[in-house]
Amino acid sequence: MFEEYTKVASEVARSAGAILLEGFGTTFEISNKEGKNNLVTEYDKRSEEYIINSLRKHFPEFSFLAEESGITANGSKNEFMWVIDPLDGTVNYARNLPIFSVSIALIRQKEIICGVIYNPVLNELFVAEKGKGSFLNSSKLTVSNCDNLDSSFLVTGFPYNINTNPGHCVDQFVQMLKRGIPVRRLGSAALDLAYVAAGRFDGFWEINLNPWDVAAGVLLIQEAGGVVSQYNKDPYWITDNNILATNGLIHDELSETLISCYLEIKNGN
Ligand code: IPD
Ligand code: CA
Ligand code: CA
Repeated sequence: MFEEYTKVASEVARSAGAILLEGFGTTFEISNKEGKNNLVTEYDKRSEEYIINSLRKHFPEFSFLAEESGITANGSKNEFMWVIDPLDGTVNYARNLPIFSVSIALIRQKEIICGVIYNPVLNELFVAEKGKGSFLNSSKLTVSNCDNLDSSFLVTGFPYNINTNPGHCVDQFVQMLKRGIPVRRLGSAALDLAYVAAGRFDGFWEINLNPWDVAAGVLLIQEAGGVVSQYNKDPYWITDNNILATNGLIHDELSETLISCYLEIKNGN
């Protein structure tokens, strides 16, 4: 039922996940990237190398945008680009916390046509293909049916420059907590999005993410019947600075809450 590229991306994500599991809990090299607590391990690099080499064998003409190696343009089919996070949740991984994933998406110009997120610890493979729906280990996914913010279960994340409170993200988080809404922070944006697609969470928001954090998850949510936009409900693309992803039913209320909190603080009220 799926196109060849989705089948290959799924296999490659599974094998990359196996590489991550091999290293998980062992002693490995960890270094700092730009920004406090922004780490990269030996296994981020191993996983990325494996993913790129494997995808290239099947699709030699597609290009790549990968977290650790940046953009590689290959040939005549440059309008097809693989967008790869070889290990989403590096800080968790480095501290032996089993919440991390592999995320692979295929974009064609400004359209995401395939998205795969794999959690090797639970052996959960989330797969979406444009127009064909979202699946978890071959069961079809639909977003949740919670229709009001106060009863919702949310997830968010914080950027590595959280200390500067960009976009008043700390205040927005506090605002949700003050309303008594349960909010989780798992440390893998790709899993956060996959879990909204699976109906485990009702909504997600975050600022300053990169295309590789979100590309696969955005398609998973859209294909599971959810809605993805910027905080202010403008259309979202994976290079935008903020993302709001929900089951659709709480979208307006969550957008309003984030924007009004931002404006209140900005205007000093
Ligand atoms: C990070 C995770 C985290 C999010 C950070 C990301 P990394 O990705 O997705 O949930 O809050 O903003 O950078 O560095 O583990 O690949
Ligand atoms: Ca990431
Ligand atoms: Ca990463």
